[in-house]
Amino acid sequence: MPAIDLSAEPQDVEEAARLLRGGALVAFPTETVYGLGGDATSERAVAAIFAAKGRPRFNPLISHLAASEQAADFAEFDERAREVAARFWPGPLTLVLPRRRDCAIALLAGAGLDTVAMRVPAHALAHALLHAVGRPIAAPSANRSGRVSPTTASHVREEGPCAIGLESTVLDLSAGRPTLLRPGGIPVEALEAAIGPIDRPRPGAADAPRSPGMLESHYAPALALRLDAVAALPGEALLAFGANPPSGFAEIGWLSRSGDLAEAAANLFAALRALDRPGFSGIAVMPIPEHGLGAAINDRLRRAAAPRG
Ligand code: TXA
Ligand code: MG
Repeated sequence: MPAIDLSAEPQDVEEAARLLRGGALVAFPTETVYGLGGDATSERAVAAIFAAKGRPRFNPLISHLAASEQAADFAEFDERAREVAARFWPGPLTLVLPRRRDCAIALLAGAGLDTVAMRVPAHALAHALLHAVGRPIAAPSANRSGRVSPTTASHVREEGPCAIGLESTVLDLSAGRPTLLRPGGIPVEALEAAIGPIDRPRPGAADAPRSPGMLESHYAPALALRLDAVAALPGEALLAFGANPPSGFAEIGWLSRSGDLAEAAANLFAALRALDRPGFSGIAVMPIPEHGLGAAINDRLRRAAAPRG
């Protein structure tokens, strides 16, 4: 595993950027915590981030940018978003905004949602790396000790500690009312001073979510999903995994012909979206093994298949 000291020489930043552009993962410091980064525009690199985690789940990831101006390439900016971005970027604020139609950020980075989460870190090495890569870098928080798979991660070492140690504040501006999704490095009061009232979970209130996880929305297709399908029902489309899909389906969308779970993860949301059309009676999904990324794929498919209220 190459160990790259980003604090040493400019060519180390170039080397880390080259690895990232090639689809590899690089751990890097930000002003909040370390991130385990991959090319946010590559479904495969984003799948590798999830694979590097011991028990993977497709929680949506933050895409990190070198400069605020880049954010409008990926998300719809309204007046509130412009205001907080101007005041708090670079810095520990993550904005959740509607994806642009032509958004190049991988669907897997947003766990299939119609939103993207972005921030511009205030950290010289993070900035140098993002600038050198020239693409957004998706990164969940990582342990500094880098307990990540040595086969997929190239470790970037840094001398000083991350300055804040607390993750970024996550502010959802994708719907009508601004909502605090996670408290963090920027106090919510500072955000309210800029854009007015922000909804937040009230501890102890009767209608308050009991855990942050309850706030989580997830991808839900319009068509019904039928899991572990082994035979066709009339009019169904099939989400196929492995060499021998059952016959009789109106259309087949492939997760992976070779039964490769990383490829299946990379294709998951694009394949689901492609089949989610009114012409079909529903979407059947072949059984997916419950190991490695299969557990994360099945987790999302079960949520997508669950009845909605
Ligand atoms: O300070 C930080 O934010 C660090 C550094 C590395 O930037 N990153 C970090 O990432 O803490 P992570 O993956 O541990 O947390 C991301 C948070 C999660 O709570 C996730 O649910 C939320 O951001 N999030 C990301 N995309 C979202 C989206 N589209 N909609 C709602 N929430 C989203
Ligand atoms: Mg985290």
